[in-house]
Amino acid sequence: MPTLHERAETNSFWLILLTLIVVAIGGIVQMVPLFYLESTIEKVSGVRPYTPLELMGRNIYVREGCYLCHSQQVRPFRDEAERYGHYSLAAESMYDHPFQWGSKRTGPDLARVGARYSDEWHVAHLTNPRTVVPESVMPGYGFLSRQPLEYGDIEAHLRTNRTVGVPYTEDMIKNAKADVAAQTAPDADPAAFVARYPKAVVRKFNAGEREITEMDALVAYLQMLGTLVDFSTFETAKNIR
Ligand code: HEC
Repeated sequence: MPTLHERAETNSFWLILLTLIVVAIGGIVQMVPLFYLESTIEKVSGVRPYTPLELMGRNIYVREGCYLCHSQQVRPFRDEAERYGHYSLAAESMYDHPFQWGSKRTGPDLARVGARYSDEWHVAHLTNPRTVVPESVMPGYGFLSRQPLEYGDIEAHLRTNRTVGVPYTEDMIKNAKADVAAQTAPDADPAAFVARYPKAVVRKFNAGEREITEMDALVAYLQMLGTLVDFSTFETAKNIR
């Protein structure tokens, strides 16, 4: 009489079935709790939803496929932290739909590129990368300066993001259109706008054009990447740097 064990190991049907069951149990035990735990994503102060202008810039980033050459995730390794700054926290991309982590780095990681260069540098670089980085293989996106930003449907974008969990308030949605203009008009009083979006930078990002262009939105987005969390006060920062 073959034992139960023998039977399982000598019959490929039972062996495959039992293997699948065991592997499935392992997978379920690992994954299911993550959907229910409150603390899967640690809350980090400073992280806020994108301003309407940044959100439009992010949409352009996705539309133009910047993610095909750029990742947005600093991995927790010494060399990455030395080059790019503190490794990325889950909370930093908690409002990203879809996320832009990526794994392809034809160009450098952009998770912490915000505030590293001037707006002028970004506009020059995006228009023709070779003007500032002679050996660059990045394509130019000069047309963004000539394309007026179309943001008539910005409220719908905020609302859609809210449906998938981004905490946009009624106030934010109601003011979305005005906030696009407010972020690019430093001479007007930006107090109400900044109260809604702490740490938002108010500037005419693409200073060469009078109207609000797609370039303004994209540079506004690039300039805020990785700037929301204050790592000088963030606890685990000391361990890696
Ligand atoms: C074909 C690949 C490719 C694509 C597509 C691409 N880039 Fe790049 N990017 C690069 C390379 C290579 C570099 C490094 C050389 C340089 O600075 O130009 C770079 C550099 C950069 C930098 C400077 C980063 C730093 O830390 O110095 C920024 C910002 C940037 N890209 C933004 C963008 C944006 C925004 C888009 C989409 C509109 C984009 N890139 C699309 C390849 C690409």
